[in-house]
Amino acid sequence: MKPIHVALLGLGTVGEGVYQTIQTHQDRLQQVTGRPVHISAILIEHPDKYTHLDKEITITTDIQTILQNPDIDVVFEAIVGIEPAFSYLKQCIIAGKSIITANKEMFARHGFELKQLAQKHDTTLGYDATTAGGIPIIQTIQQLLQVNQIHKIQGILNGTSNYILTEMREQHTSFEIALEQAQTLGYAEADPTNDIEGYDALYKLMILSELTFGEQPDWADIKRIGISDISAADLANSQTAEEKIKHIATIQQIEGKLHAAVEPISVTTTHPLYAIEGVDNAVYIETDLIGNLTLTGPGAGALPTASAMLEDFCTLFSKKISTINKVLA
Ligand code: HSE
Repeated sequence: MKPIHVALLGLGTVGEGVYQTIQTHQDRLQQVTGRPVHISAILIEHPDKYTHLDKEITITTDIQTILQNPDIDVVFEAIVGIEPAFSYLKQCIIAGKSIITANKEMFARHGFELKQLAQKHDTTLGYDATTAGGIPIIQTIQQLLQVNQIHKIQGILNGTSNYILTEMREQHTSFEIALEQAQTLGYAEADPTNDIEGYDALYKLMILSELTFGEQPDWADIKRIGISDISAADLANSQTAEEKIKHIATIQQIEGKLHAAVEPISVTTTHPLYAIEGVDNAVYIETDLIGNLTLTGPGAGALPTASAMLEDFCTLFSKKISTINKVLA
């Protein structure tokens, strides 16, 4: 049976998670997609650092190696930052490859363009891993939007910030130590500024906005405050009042206009995000038909994010299989 050939762009925490999961879950992937999944190539900046990789895999620093390989059907992208990821993905789409990305900053800024390009070239684009780690939030919202209207989304969208606030409040850990732990556990970015200053949550909120409302508010109008100024005393005081300070991202449509904010908020026990602790993320959604819905799960880490990417992969191939079956029926 002809394998599905895939390539990985980037082999940091997330890329490594995809690499491992394709091996550990090979039988499962084959059951769902109907074909073996073969990693043909990996693009990495410093190949010398990676000695554990399967010798049959082409290791390259040159995107052309992947673009010019017609056997490669799908490209998993887990590079940090906008470039070169955006340029690489555009070229992959133009070369007819399906892409699956976990790159939130790039997708928040250029997702719309990539979606249009993918449509033009009749390829598929998966981006569930960009937002809320292992929570299948993109596919859930796509499903809901088939019938529902969504008015408001509110979420804890950065696992590192939530982990730090939880450790500081429950274990009385200092901010610096809690951040170091989040880095060791693979939650925080290599440069954690985006995590602790609210940029990462903002990118994810913009991805949800584009998907849900078809547009993003002007970024310059969005209030963005991180967690770096929250002290242990602030957390202790709020807990005494049966409140918790949570880092919350909100987007809502009021009289046709989008309003967004990313900021620490003190929430009480009845709030849907009150109980979300540690690295978990949660997304609360208000809709017209089903009412309110909250999804909770791990918001960061190699395996939850790899799972989100491989779920996109399975959706892509199970759709292909059902289309083929329909044609044959
Ligand atoms: N650094 C991110 C977080 C990883 O902590 O949420 C997942 O996007």
